[in-house]
Amino acid sequence: MRKVDIFDTTLRDGEQSPGCSLNGAEKLEIAHQLARLGVDVVEAGFAASSPGDFAAVRTIAEQVRGPVVTALARGVKSDIDAVAKAVKPAERPRIHIVVSASNIHLERKMRKSKDDVLQMGIDSVRYARSLCDDVEYSTEDASRADLDYLCRTLEEVIKAGATVVNIPDTVGFAVPGEWYEAFSAIMHRVPNIDKAKISVHCHNDLGMATANSLEAIRAGATQVEGCFNGIGERAGNASLEEIIMAVHMRPDYYNARTNIKLDEIYRTCHLISNRMGMPIPRNKAVVGGNAFAHSSGIHQDGILKDRQNYEIISPELIGLKSHDIVLTARSGRAALNYRLSALGYEFSKEDLDATYKRFLEVADRKKEVFDEDLRAIMDDQVVGSEETFVLEHLAFSSVSGEEPNASVELRIGDEVKQATSEGDGPIDAAYKAVDMLTDLTVKLEDYGVRAVTGGQEAMGEATVKVRDDDHYVTGRGASTDVVEASVLAYVNAMNKIVEERLRRGGKIAIPNVP
Ligand code: KIV
Ligand code: ZN
Repeated sequence: MRKVDIFDTTLRDGEQSPGCSLNGAEKLEIAHQLARLGVDVVEAGFAASSPGDFAAVRTIAEQVRGPVVTALARGVKSDIDAVAKAVKPAERPRIHIVVSASNIHLERKMRKSKDDVLQMGIDSVRYARSLCDDVEYSTEDASRADLDYLCRTLEEVIKAGATVVNIPDTVGFAVPGEWYEAFSAIMHRVPNIDKAKISVHCHNDLGMATANSLEAIRAGATQVEGCFNGIGERAGNASLEEIIMAVHMRPDYYNARTNIKLDEIYRTCHLISNRMGMPIPRNKAVVGGNAFAHSSGIHQDGILKDRQNYEIISPELIGLKSHDIVLTARSGRAALNYRLSALGYEFSKEDLDATYKRFLEVADRKKEVFDEDLRAIMDDQVVGSEETFVLEHLAFSSVSGEEPNASVELRIGDEVKQATSEGDGPIDAAYKAVDMLTDLTVKLEDYGVRAVTGGQEAMGEATVKVRDDDHYVTGRGASTDVVEASVLAYVNAMNKIVEERLRRGGKIAIPNVP
């Protein structure tokens, strides 16, 4: 069977989606998880876009071992130099160049002739190859390009040294049958196509990104690009977990395989969803909350007789393990450690002590603590942000006919400060009180809360998206009390804003914050 490389662009194309920005520590954490999952290529960012992106790519190249590490460059020297420098420390560095290929882009975006753009592509590849042995060339908007010109471009950039050629459906315009034909034509018409890997990269504007990617694989593509959970520009990129599972479940049809450790899929999707503040829809293929739930009587009867009656994927296959130990407030550290290790979390004794304390707070309020609760507890721990503000105390009242109010105490440096406010509801009142204490002028763009498990005593996980000028951060918090979860999420976002402003050299006018 043909091996298909999995190229993950969550940290580049995924992070381009509005409100999905990550801090450097979150990017590194996701890159490590992608390596554990066994992806072949991690696209770590767009190195020339900002010093922050450059630093994140460089750190991933320094620290993540296993996958090829790449970053995106336009076909200009300065971008290529930035990528070459950022990915240099990687075990296997790659420079990824993108240049438009469609008539629309050439005429209306680049305003250059076909020959000039082709020459630009050739020169960029030659230059990149002088800096790095592995160079990928993407023909942007290939699905709307003239096939003759596309084939000529692919032939020339391979001659110039491209080791991978990527054929993107940048605007999600392709349809499966036609896309299969396009890839088959490329395989037959480009004389040196066997000298490079052939890659596909689809967007989901018409909801066909997974189908189109799979058709390209069927026609001979040996690398597929996408993001987990289908995150990405506009309607998103192709969902990698769907493509990987389709290839795994239907080798008879695709005659292909990947090197992915399937039992790391659930954890990867959950981590990305959590860090990006993009909840996974319940009916999402492969990893949605309902993917293994059976509610109709006929199906339940069939499942009890033999799971294969109504389940083509077993939950264990993607890493949703069933377990033998029930965690309650009476469970000890050993039981907690056992369950957390089964979920893939590793930590020192000190970290376990802190997590155990947090676990007991939750267990005291719930009869049983489920895996989803544990994931929420773990995800709640602050990744990479210094805690400038710590929620010490929260009190609120909401009585029919009276204006809700909240009192918040935050630890800021060595001092605990308190503020009280009224609001449209207890959460609005508490957020206003937090604003008074932090004195950061920001805008709440999005707010969501979801029950982590079923039942009345379920933990609530709150996510907020906050805008600070042109920069977005995502804050998260989890608690059995949704108002507390919401305030924790908001305070978490405030900490990230302080960190980001300090990183950008800004001044923070909060007493006790240097
Ligand atoms: O969608 C696209 O064309 C891209 C390229 C950079 C591969 O993201
Ligand atoms: Zn893309």
